[in-house]
Amino acid sequence: MEIIRTPSMMKETSKRLLMKGRTIGFVPTMGALHEGHLYLSKCARSENDVVVASIFVNPTQFGPTEDFQQYPREFESDRQKLETASVDILFAPDVPAIYPEGFATSVEVKGLSEKLCGALRPGHFSGVATIVCKFFNMVMPTRAYFGQKDFQQALIIQKMIGDLNLNVESILCATVREGDGLAMSSRNRYLLPAEREAATVLYKTLQSASRMIETGLEPRVIMERMQAMLMAEPLITEVQYAGVYDPETLNARIATGKRNLLAVAVKIGNTRLIDNIVVGL
Ligand code: PAJ
Repeated sequence: MEIIRTPSMMKETSKRLLMKGRTIGFVPTMGALHEGHLYLSKCARSENDVVVASIFVNPTQFGPTEDFQQYPREFESDRQKLETASVDILFAPDVPAIYPEGFATSVEVKGLSEKLCGALRPGHFSGVATIVCKFFNMVMPTRAYFGQKDFQQALIIQKMIGDLNLNVESILCATVREGDGLAMSSRNRYLLPAEREAATVLYKTLQSASRMIETGLEPRVIMERMQAMLMAEPLITEVQYAGVYDPETLNARIATGKRNLLAVAVKIGNTRLIDNIVVGL
């Protein structure tokens, strides 16, 4: 596996590959890799000639009181995991290479960015859209892979690709879960053992809500029951949102539709966890 540190080298390498007619699959990450990330690279491996993964803890998507400093950085073990997953190129630039003195541009995907997680993390999705747009220009991927775990992020990137006529196809990959249903996340390692146990309530709540949709309950009632289920877990310190949403607009549903996004965001101690599933009628 080749390791590339600078945007100019990344661009040169991608240009050369594209001139030879190779397809490039791209998996952007912030590192602290787990099976969820590796599943994305597996999807990329099966559909492209060359797989590029990036590791970059992007400062502009963290709020002033969030965990940018604390975010786990484990380059050596991440490198080994990507090597084992047959990734061809690891792009791992440093912050000054990406945001040099005087950097002044940002990408805003209005509407979708202010809802759900965006309402609680102002500026977060602008940071995400900007870095992903920059990476697309440096890596020039044929296809880029995103996890359903961050459904809103994937939707915003899809919208950005369409609105800005970017030459990349985005692919959504299923959420990889632990045996007890907890969605894998780099932030799970912050959880104390009792908190890790309590965290299983997120997926249980989503499954229970999915059964309520099947029985024809109204979204408003489902939302109330989801919130009650989450609040009944004593280690949950805050329910940021929980409910039934339109998977295209992210608006709260008044009546269930053909496809429904069930999504939750909570805090357990200081750790923020999110999860979602998309269900039909
Ligand atoms: P990060 O949290 O490292 O996630 C990288 C990718 O892995 C995202 O597409 C995310 O949705 C996916 N992912 C995370 N957990 C997953 C799971 N359990 N199953 C499947 N996929 C999962 O998301 C980011 O980084 C950043 O915002 C980034 C897009 C890299 C921009 O900085």
